[in-house]
Amino acid sequence: MYLSLEDSACRGSECGLPLRCMSEYFLRSSRLGFRRWSDEDLELAWGLWGDPEVTRWIGGPFSEQQVKDRLAREISTMKSDGLQYLPIFLLSSGEHIGCCGLRPYKPEERIFELGFHIRTAHWGKGYASEAARAVMKYAFTELGGWALFAGHHPNNEVSRRIVQKLGFRYTHDEFYPPTGLRHPSYLLTAEEFEAEASG
Ligand SMILES: CC(C)(COP(=O)(O)OP(=O)(O)OC[C@H]1O[C@@H](n2cnc3c(N)ncnc32)[C@H](O)[C@@H]1OP(=O)(O)O)[C@@H](O)C(=O)NCCC(=O)NCCS
Repeated sequence: MYLSLEDSACRGSECGLPLRCMSEYFLRSSRLGFRRWSDEDLELAWGLWGDPEVTRWIGGPFSEQQVKDRLAREISTMKSDGLQYLPIFLLSSGEHIGCCGLRPYKPEERIFELGFHIRTAHWGKGYASEAARAVMKYAFTELGGWALFAGHHPNNEVSRRIVQKLGFRYTHDEFYPPTGLRHPSYLLTAEEFEAEASG
């Protein structure tokens, strides 16, 4: 288990948002709140991974069963490894906009994989980049990650742009079973992240 998640104190519902939402964000960025997936989130999961546009480069389209399996896998990875592609919400409205987080890559070397999936209605607003930066900081400062891995479908130009903009270094192409293709793969060490942040 990598993390002991400290839920940030709930500030109450003075802003009118559902108390459940507000109280469950253990990580925040300027516009986004992060919590963990639960068994009750199938509708949110379907709204995200049930959209063929979202899963186009990650092995989709997904059937209802595949979306259920994906949700179950995220919940199980949190239990086994303390990592997850966390569901993210707009702080302003509580609306679910996607997920961003980590999964094990080379756990023995403390290398985690970073990923982000955003609902199509919210593309192009900088949410993936913002969420990724928050998760990267969390991975290095709270989880003691040594490095982060990221990969993308060879035709996913948006994802390529984001990982490069986030400071990741291309290392190699790696076979990705869900697409059956070799995906461009990248690494960013904690040291590189800190150098970038301070420079
Ligand atoms: C990839 C994805 C997460 C991007 O989310 P997003 O919130 O729209 O991304 P951002 O708004 O942070 O945009 C990041 C950059 O990509 C650029 N971009 C966004 N949409 C673009 C498009 N359709 N074509 C070209 N560039 C685009 C943005 O301009 C931005 O660059 P900039 O900051 O230099 O302007 C989203 O498209 C998605 O969920 N796709 C499906 C899942 C997926 O492929 N995930 C990645 C693999 S893990």
